[in-house]
Amino acid sequence: MTLTVLFAAGDTAFALYHDCLKDAFLQHGLQVDLVTDSTPERVDYIIYSPASTLRDFTPYTRCKAVLNLWAGVEKILGNPTLTQPLARMVDPALTRGMVEYVCGHVLRYHLGMDAHIAATPGTWVPQEPPLAPERVVGILGLGELGRACATALAGLGFAVEGWSSRPKTLDGVTCHYGRDGFKALMQNSDILVTLLPLTAETENILDAAAFDLMRKGARIINPGRGALIDDDALLAALGTGQIAGATLDVFRIEPLPADHPFWTHPNVTITPHIAATTRAKSASQVIATNIARSEAGQELMYRVDPARGY
Ligand code: NDP
Ligand code: OXD
Repeated sequence: MTLTVLFAAGDTAFALYHDCLKDAFLQHGLQVDLVTDSTPERVDYIIYSPASTLRDFTPYTRCKAVLNLWAGVEKILGNPTLTQPLARMVDPALTRGMVEYVCGHVLRYHLGMDAHIAATPGTWVPQEPPLAPERVVGILGLGELGRACATALAGLGFAVEGWSSRPKTLDGVTCHYGRDGFKALMQNSDILVTLLPLTAETENILDAAAFDLMRKGARIINPGRGALIDDDALLAALGTGQIAGATLDVFRIEPLPADHPFWTHPNVTITPHIAATTRAKSASQVIATNIARSEAGQELMYRVDPARGY
């Protein structure tokens, strides 16, 4: 049977994904008509990203699953017309990208690289940074990405602590959960990495009270979502030196508006939502595996729980 798969993730992405998806479908023994436009009633699966113009899922009555190309699902979950099962992206290449981004920026803060890069020529003031086991890196979120980053940082020797909604155990990582766990992690962290999804519960989780819990001079790395942070509270905490630096990859409005004070703050580094990107080749394999599983009557991988919001 030939399946109709609608690619609703924008023309630019279609050019990147077309050949990779075709190859992956072939490898999984799937006969697929891969289209960017179709009569909704004919569509078996939708590959989706927020770049799509598709807003109304109601007419896709035959669609067995919507396969999100992004790991974060807050935008599509907010769409009341979505009644089809939703799977999010967990892509080994995306995970590797996030591990590289987080380790790179943690090491930058840990080693105090900026002081040397920006040093006045002729300055020779040797300073010994603590070694990794003396530096606590806290990670909010111990899901696919948080776990991989925690394990990599623990492998580098850092004292890693993590926080999740439900209790967890992870080799080499002190795991916390719940409100008390949040407080402990915030109090202990020298460098904080946020890898939480954006939900009603996590929005503004880093507010003035949270920054006050931290050690003076702590650093923040946020590749999670912009709205996890109260921007004004962060600017205030940067102003007093409570927070000594922030590396931000995601923002409430993207691209970050030109007049936003983050752009010119000397202790803020901005990266343009590039911490980790879904890679067409590996992501196409994930999509094809999921469609093959669904066709075989198996559970979708990485199914989103709308009640939890991730
Ligand atoms: P997962 O769904 O695998 O993990 C989410 C983690 O957050 C889980 O450990 C979960 O706890 C925890 N969590 C969720 N809500 C709460 C809460 N209220 N209190 C405590 N812990 C909570 O997500 P991923 O790791 O795959 O991705 C995380 C986020 O990273 C994405 O949602 C996205 O926003 C962002 N992202 C950013 C990218 C970028 O380029 N900047 C790229 C990809 C993703 P539990 O395990 O107990 O359920
Ligand atoms: C994201 C992604 O969710 O790029 O940010 O996948």
